[in-house]
Amino acid sequence: MLNWDDPVAQFKQTPTLAGVEVQTEIEPLEKKQPAAEVVEKDNSLGAQTNEKSITGLEEVEFGAGRLAVDDKAMINCRSDVNQLVPFKYKWAWQKYLDGCANHWMPQEVNMTADIALWKDPNGLTEDERVLIKRNLGFFSTADSLVANNLVLAVYRHITNPECRQYLLRQAFEEALHTHAYQYCIESLGLDEAEVFNMYREVESIHAKAAWATQFTDSLGDRNFQTGTHEDDQRLLRDLIAFYVIFEGIFFYVGFVQVLSMGRRNKMTGVAEQFQYILRDESMHLNFGIDVINQIKVENPGLWTSDFQDQMVALIREAVELEIAYAHDTMPRGVLGLNANMFEEYLGFIANRRCAQIGLPEQYLNASNPFPWMSEAIDLKKEKNFFETRVTEYQTGGALNWD
Ligand SMILES: [Fe+2]
Ligand SMILES: [Fe+2]
Repeated sequence: MLNWDDPVAQFKQTPTLAGVEVQTEIEPLEKKQPAAEVVEKDNSLGAQTNEKSITGLEEVEFGAGRLAVDDKAMINCRSDVNQLVPFKYKWAWQKYLDGCANHWMPQEVNMTADIALWKDPNGLTEDERVLIKRNLGFFSTADSLVANNLVLAVYRHITNPECRQYLLRQAFEEALHTHAYQYCIESLGLDEAEVFNMYREVESIHAKAAWATQFTDSLGDRNFQTGTHEDDQRLLRDLIAFYVIFEGIFFYVGFVQVLSMGRRNKMTGVAEQFQYILRDESMHLNFGIDVINQIKVENPGLWTSDFQDQMVALIREAVELEIAYAHDTMPRGVLGLNANMFEEYLGFIANRRCAQIGLPEQYLNASNPFPWMSEAIDLKKEKNFFETRVTEYQTGGALNWD
């Protein structure tokens, strides 16, 4: 049971990770009563619901005035949730279009070489096998966590239709990512129970999942609504936890490790899946950053120095968890990589994340030991640096009605 007087209490009980003492104390945001009482509803069809209903349907008032752009807001907005236009947040709509233009499916990726390599007793070292299995273990449940967070928590509180349009696209992409991991696990004939239970059984994977879940629990709480200074900060904090940290920091050690294998012509199918996922994830991250910054612009009073300090502490804590994950997935160094390189890299990534939401950089002079990652993020579908088969997604015009 989550204790909101001390939201990281559960986390602090997690044993020390690979020698990393997690010390950050998050100042809990002041506990508030729900902004509105939950109103008992009559479940019969046509029943009147309270005005805080999330469907928006009860507000379709005949003859009411037309929606104006200025009626829309990022949070605490009760304007019509069903009218996509007029657009206010054109960047969200554009990201939806960009996401659709990048559509891909896991089955398009040829896994034949991976299967042969995995089955060859001399094909990979034991360390390389651990790296692949632990990354599939983390990601196979992590993307489900993200999807659940989106549809059960974020979607309730971000009500403007153009952002919701992107959230729906993102939710589908998260389903594709879970599908991709399952496809890899099945193709390689891995022990599914072992891989899918790693977030319960491997310490560093569990720590990241448990850290994230507390924020979904926060937003998904049925009694939680925004509308007060503290509750609005709570939403902003939870968005930062999921978009900036979970998708923006916790994925990056795994991406580098698996793409490094692909660059050495090993497990190129798995690496290609990860490459497409990385491209999607960089768009999810950018969307989240836009949402966070837009909320800041519309609600400048939320971005207090105390709140900024709390966000910096969260980011620094997350970096420690991700460093522990780097050690756990690569205990002895492999592929010319070692865990120390990841400490440098995570400082570089964390600095970027801080700058993207207007926080001071935290890791002096951290540089990027993996400059090729920028190219991987900017992948255009028609140019695949692993030079495996690329299938363009068919448009509606290709449908056969016979
Ligand atoms: Fe994902
Ligand atoms: Fe994502």
